[in-house]
Amino acid sequence: MTAPALEIMELTAGYGEVPIVRDFSTALPPGSITTLIGGNGAGKSTLLRAIYGTNRIFAGHIVFDGEEIERLAPWARLELGIGFVPQGRCNFPLMSVAENLKMGGYSLAAGERREAIERVVETFPMLRQKWSVPAGNLSGGEQQILETAMVLETDPALLLLDEPSLGLSPKMQNEVFAAVRRIAASGVTVLIVEQNVHGALIISDRAIVMELGRKFLEGPAVAVRNDPRIREAYLGGNIKEVATG
Ligand SMILES: Nc1ncnc2c1ncn2[C@@H]1O[C@H](COP(=O)(O)OP(=O)(O)OP(=O)(O)O)[C@@H](O)[C@H]1O
Ligand SMILES: [Mg+2]
Repeated sequence: MTAPALEIMELTAGYGEVPIVRDFSTALPPGSITTLIGGNGAGKSTLLRAIYGTNRIFAGHIVFDGEEIERLAPWARLELGIGFVPQGRCNFPLMSVAENLKMGGYSLAAGERREAIERVVETFPMLRQKWSVPAGNLSGGEQQILETAMVLETDPALLLLDEPSLGLSPKMQNEVFAAVRRIAASGVTVLIVEQNVHGALIISDRAIVMELGRKFLEGPAVAVRNDPRIREAYLGGNIKEVATG
């Protein structure tokens, strides 16, 4: 078996004195897409932040590419190849799309940055159409795509996406899901939190369900999609069963 790209061992993480995610373990195969499912407040964003390094880790280990990273600062994890697109809106609303993309690649040499920008614009052609528009004037969904593109410029090996399709039209959601598939096909391991559980499960290899900060269920996306409890709670209860294998 190939070594996992990311392994989480008995992780407890949260904020200040408050643990939110408890005793959480999983392993993500390289190049796979894993969807993280759970109700509001289940701890999904908290888990992504713990992997990226922006909240408190109480116990446990996070191993990325064979290295323990749970004590490293976010910038060090970024350098190792972990990219995080947080939930919500863009960072530089007054700057144009082009300027934002330059910011996304600020750590790269000029030539590399040009290549990186070309690469992400190819992935998200919308960015070229909105090239000179201030990022704050983009729709919520377009801002989400811009943020994802900026992180992709750093060429991460692990991409953490928190609700990338939130607020997007169905057509745009499909574009985001298709892009995630292409990103993973290029070898990037993806961990994605999605409110569109149905859409995310279709593109995912694996799924993890969280409840009250703990792992409730984990398995191949198809199996999770067919689980009666998941269908009832997250898929409207009446979705057609899909064939396994
Ligand atoms: N900075 C913080 N300080 C203290 N508690 C926090 C902080 N951020 C989040 N929490 C709490 O942690 C719990 C889990 O929040 P989290 O954002 O991880 O949930 P989530 O699963 O991402 O939910 P949603 O689907 O609504 O985004 C919530 O009870 C929340 O109030
Ligand atoms: Mg969240």
